[in-house]
Amino acid sequence: MRLMDPRVLSPLDRLLELADAGLRGSFARPASARPTPGIPAAGPADPSRRRHAAGLMRVNHAGEIAAQGLYLGQALTARSPATRAALRRAADEEGDHLAWCHDRLDELGSRPSLLDPLWYAGSVAIGALAGLCGDRTSLGFMAETEKQVEGHLADHLARLPADDARSRAIIEQMQADEAAHGHAAIAAGGAPLPEPAPKLMRLTARIMTGTAYWI
Ligand SMILES: [Fe+2]
Ligand SMILES: [Fe+2]
Repeated sequence: MRLMDPRVLSPLDRLLELADAGLRGSFARPASARPTPGIPAAGPADPSRRRHAAGLMRVNHAGEIAAQGLYLGQALTARSPATRAALRRAADEEGDHLAWCHDRLDELGSRPSLLDPLWYAGSVAIGALAGLCGDRTSLGFMAETEKQVEGHLADHLARLPADDARSRAIIEQMQADEAAHGHAAIAAGGAPLPEPAPKLMRLTARIMTGTAYWI
């Protein structure tokens, strides 16, 4: 996804852009700036292993939809142009991840979560609220999100079938990008989030990932 320069966008444009990103992410393959990592492959020959790989990639796709929704929601209520730009840059890169996960689901003969529009809308709302708490908290929220996603991806790398090199290549590149997003959020002034916020975020993520594996 390529977002427009926010300086030329009116509030209505921003809302339309939000809806457009959500619809593209949920129902189509969004455009990506970078090619999908790894070499195209059908995935594990064993159907149950292939289904498992697809379940994990569906969770990752839903996670990327949520990350994009969060950051665009946060950008909507960000106070400073620099924070807004950082959030939009991160949302753009999550768009690449979204496209890669979409490609992999296609190759595995599967589909994204049917509840993607719900994950997106909920994430935009949570992101907009986080943005209202001020830029330092909002950037801290971004750093915590990325930290949790990174841990989540590490778990997926351990659970992925050994003969799924393509999914592994995608997840490894995503993991490197998420680490960079987290560092960027802290460097931009993100403050650590007090408990119970991180715990609540983990709980919300668990509901989404537990559901998206199947639906
Ligand atoms: Fe991502
Ligand atoms: Fe990220």
